[in-house]
Formats: sequence, structure tokens, C-alpha cells
Amino acid sequence: MKLEEVMAQARERLRGICRVCRVCDGRACVGEVPGMGGVGTGASFQNNVRALASYKLNLRVLHRHGEPDTGLSLFGTRLETPVLVAAVAGAAINLGGSLTEEELVLAMVGGARAAGSLALTGDGPDPALFEAGLAAARQFPGTVIPVVKPRAVEEILERFAQARAAGALAAAVDVDAAALVNMTRAGQPVGPLSPAAVQRLVEGSELPVILKGIMTPDEAVLAAEAGVAGIVVSNHGGRALDHTPGTAEVLGVIARRLRGLSPRPVILVDGGFRRGEDVLKGLALGADAVMVGRPAVRGAVGGGAEGVRLVLDELTRGLRTAMILTGCPDLASVGPEVLFRREEAT
Ligand SMILES: Cc1cc2nc3c(=O)[nH]c(=O)nc-3n(C[C@H](O)[C@H](O)[C@H](O)COP(=O)(O)O)c2cc1C
Repeated sequence: MKLEEVMAQARERLRGICRVCRVCDGRACVGEVPGMGGVGTGASFQNNVRALASYKLNLRVLHRHGEPDTGLSLFGTRLETPVLVAAVAGAAINLGGSLTEEELVLAMVGGARAAGSLALTGDGPDPALFEAGLAAARQFPGTVIPVVKPRAVEEILERFAQARAAGALAAAVDVDAAALVNMTRAGQPVGPLSPAAVQRLVEGSELPVILKGIMTPDEAVLAAEAGVAGIVVSNHGGRALDHTPGTAEVLGVIARRLRGLSPRPVILVDGGFRRGEDVLKGLALGADAVMVGRPAVRGAVGGGAEGVRLVLDELTRGLRTAMILTGCPDLASVGPEVLFRREEAT
């Protein structure tokens, strides 16, 4: 199967839900939540794409490095690519039932595994959503990081224990889902987590704990002080709060604030990453790895696990090309010097 065929299939199957635009930038799907868009004016989704586009790369080709190495180690496991699959749950309400929850999650996780990567899985008011992630973790041990909504601490810990028993690699909370009305309406209240609550999660879990939805340096430091193993710089793909900056706008300052901490939490980022060059920019700004949500969904709907693998492979191929053209032999050598700074050019 070719990637173009996968996208054509996805366009067909997602009719009325997602236009599978050439550039997935949140303009055609403003306010379509549930669905694939961003909330409100769609500014947060669009800011993600715009922020990445605002960075330029330094072309550097006078070097002797051959084929770049895109391998890395994350939470003790070896990956072939720093492009991971983000958590996407709610196939019935968000994807118009174009596939079942199990089909979506197995495609996302199976595709990630085939590409030498990892996948995060989601949570929601219907217990079947979190269960689909657990089932995928059982099938692909060491490949899944389940993300739990910011419920009461004991409830989160209970799900973390289930995740561990299922063979998950780590466990996360999407703290930016603190005001999700469909959870509260279903009698499963969510809310902000205090730093003390985060510490209780870290102490009560046998898995490395990740907080997803960190957008300021101060909260990154609070998370680090509470002992988390990782953070995801994320605005939930623009689906939580309208008018946030793009994640690439805040990533650099967050990474700088965490630099030198020992141990330093792993820094992941998502939101608007669409091409290998975007991935390189994310890494240059200080992320250890980058996650893609909507691109992976399009792959899953259009071609199942194979479709997701093709999406990740294409991003990794683009990253490799960008690494050659910016003089980076491996991920450790990707730093801020890859990014063009106008003040240094004059
Ligand atoms: C339809 C849909 C459902 C999502 N469900 C979840 C979820 O259950 N848990 C979660 O942490 N993030 C969820 N997200 C957010 C993604 O994990 C990720 O942060 C975002 O999609 C990244 O931006 P991108 O889609 O532009 O790559 C969802 C996103 C979409 C588009």
C-alpha cells in the first residue's frame, strides 16, 4: 500500500468528519470538537502549525556524516525513530464510527510498533476507551503508554496499576483535560491536579509517570520537582483551551528551564508536527521525541496498522533527509544551532 492510497481511503471514510487536507493545519475544521478540529476559534490548533512554520533551518552540508542515526532510548526501551503516536480516543464520537475503538487503537499501537516506535492511548467517560489501550498493551507489551484523565488520585492510581499489569511502558495523565465537560456530565469528575497530588501519583505508581499538557516553564519545574519521569509539552492538539500559544513557541524556554536537572524529565512534544523538518525543529528546541495525533489517525482510518506505519516511516524519512542537510549524524547532535537566528545573520 502507498501512503497516497491510504490518504485517499481516509478521505473517503472520514467524509463529513475530516477533509484530510494536504496540509493539516486546523483551518478547515475550526471548532469541530467532537470531531478532528480545535476548540472555539481553532486558534490553538492553528498556532501549533504556525509556530513550527515560523522556525527556519540552517542548511549545513560541508561535513562527512553519512546516513543519520534516528535511534534513541526512551524510558529504558530502544526506539528506531523519535516520532511517536499520540493518544487519540473516542472513535465513535470523533471519527464518526469509521472504525471501532479497538480497531483504532490496535492500528495506532501496531503501526507504531512496526515503525520501531511507541504509542500513547487515551481515556474517556466510556470505560471501553481505556480498556482498548490496555488490550493493545497486552498484545504489544512495552509499546504502550496509557493516558488517564485527571480523575481523583486513587482512581488514577488504580488505572496505572492496570496499565502496569497489562505490560505498559509508562503511564500518563493528560492534565490539560481538567475541564472536560463530557467526563463531568458522565458522573466522572475531572479537575486540576495539585503538585502534592502529582507527587502521590509518582510515589504510588510502579511505572514512570508522565504529565501531558504542560505549557509553561513554571509548571514544567513543578512537575519535575514532583518527580515525574516525563512531560509532554502539549495543548491537546488545540482541543482544551482556545488561544494558547503553539507548542513550539513554548518548548524552547521549557527545555532550557529543565536543562541541568538531574534526573531531567524526558521532554515530549506534540501539536502540528506534519513533516520531517517539523520533527527536527522540535528536537532542536529541546524535545527528546515528538508525537503525531491527526496524521496517525488518517493513517489508521485509511490503512490500519500499515497506514500508521507508513505515516511514521514517511516522517522518519523526512527527518533523516533534514538531518543530512543540517549536518546532524544522530539525535544527540541535534541542537539549537540547527535553527536559523536572524540576529546572528547580520
Ligand atoms: C480526535 C482526537 C482525540 C484525542 N483524544 C485524546 C485522549 O483521549 N487523550 C489525550 O491525552 N489526548 C487526546 N488527543 C490529543 C492528542 O493526544 C495530541 O495531543 C494531539 O492530537 C496532537 O496534535 P496533532 O493532532 O496536531 O498532531 C486527541 C486528539 C484528537 C484529534
